[in-house]
Amino acid sequence: MNFDRSNELRLKAKRLIPGGAHTYSKGDDQFPLLSPHSIVRGKGARIWDVDGNEFIDWGMGLTSVILGHAYEPVVEAIKSELDNGCNFIRPSYIEAEVAELISNTIPSAQMVKFSKNGSNATTSAVKVSRAYTGRNMVLRCYDQPFFSIDDWFMGNTVVDAGIPEADKQHTDHFRYNDLNNLETKIAEHHNKIACVIIEPAATHEPAPGFLEGVKALCERNGIVLIFDEVVSGFRFHPKGAQSLYGVTPHLSTLGKAIANGYSVSALVGQKEIMELGGIDHDKERVFLLSTTYGGETHHLRAAQKTIEILLANDYEVTKHIWQVGKTIKEAYNRIAKQYALDKLTYIDGIDCRPYLVFLDIDGKPDNILRTLFMQEMIQYGVLLQGFNPSFSHGASEIAQTIEGFEKALKTLHYAIETNQVGSLLIGPPVKPVFRKYN
Ligand SMILES: Cc1ncc(COP(=O)(O)O)c(C=O)c1O
Repeated sequence: MNFDRSNELRLKAKRLIPGGAHTYSKGDDQFPLLSPHSIVRGKGARIWDVDGNEFIDWGMGLTSVILGHAYEPVVEAIKSELDNGCNFIRPSYIEAEVAELISNTIPSAQMVKFSKNGSNATTSAVKVSRAYTGRNMVLRCYDQPFFSIDDWFMGNTVVDAGIPEADKQHTDHFRYNDLNNLETKIAEHHNKIACVIIEPAATHEPAPGFLEGVKALCERNGIVLIFDEVVSGFRFHPKGAQSLYGVTPHLSTLGKAIANGYSVSALVGQKEIMELGGIDHDKERVFLLSTTYGGETHHLRAAQKTIEILLANDYEVTKHIWQVGKTIKEAYNRIAKQYALDKLTYIDGIDCRPYLVFLDIDGKPDNILRTLFMQEMIQYGVLLQGFNPSFSHGASEIAQTIEGFEKALKTLHYAIETNQVGSLLIGPPVKPVFRKYN
């Protein structure tokens, strides 16, 4: 495979853009050296790079492209709005129309405020919780990798440069599926906690009673419960993971798959809390999500069409993506076992969002093995980090991916047997996104 043009653009991007990409997880340190840097177009579950190479895409815009690239009905919905302009002196009628659709869809969404990024939504959720409770502390779930680019979250990670010490003191964390741990943290920060923020499910499903227990603990202690559904919102179930698991939080944040990759996010929640951001009360005002582009019309049309499709035909999209994930996971784990690699690599996670695990013989994450696997899959036309199944991942994409697993895992087996893992990998191994130094 030839990456000549990609390699030129890789250097240009690095020269002009810190990190060479606008999302850290798309950066060069997240992919093997023998990989495409720059993509030209996508259709369905396939993409083409600047050198003309074709790949199956398992990243799908960081989970956002749930229906498929350039999905015709969504593209048509956007086109139908383009000639009308996109941003006016007063709101477009579409804003209330799509807010109503979301309010009728997501259980916690009594009121809705749109923005463009998930981080806008999560940070506003934290802010309005602080205003509502008159407290400062945030408790965030530790086992979930990301909630926001903003200081209240990043200050509680290893990548906390540039964040004032005082801000770091206002966030602490607790473990997923561990109610005792949450209870201990709540007691430790006695009456100071404004909100608990958690993805209802990310890497693992909630243990029976866990989410119910989190909500009960929050309500007993006057804490606002925020479900970050930026990823889970329209992926686990069209009505949110909160509907799937039957627990309604006080506030929720939505984004990613809401508009099939176009930039729409939302903070939604209980009227009593959300209304603090309104103009019809006599309490102190909360400046809640006021953005130039929050009501941009054609992306709201994309959200409307995407949500309509997700809700249609007995949730066929949702059923499809769960099934695709299950098929991929079972195939990989079967082949890994066949090559006696199952202690070193397997696919774990929930079927609609499976992820790859690579371990060394001591059970520690092995990024050299991971990168060699990614390098091999690229040779078979499959570009992946984990798996974000979409409605467009069909039989041919699944068959080609499983064929790639067969060949790549055979190479891994050979590399391990002959002690050549390091020498077969061209270039450096991938690195964690959340690290203090390069
Ligand atoms: C769970 C979760 N919350 C919030 C965000 C932030 O979303 P955005 O990148 O749209 O700001 C992300 C992004 O990956 C996420 O995974």
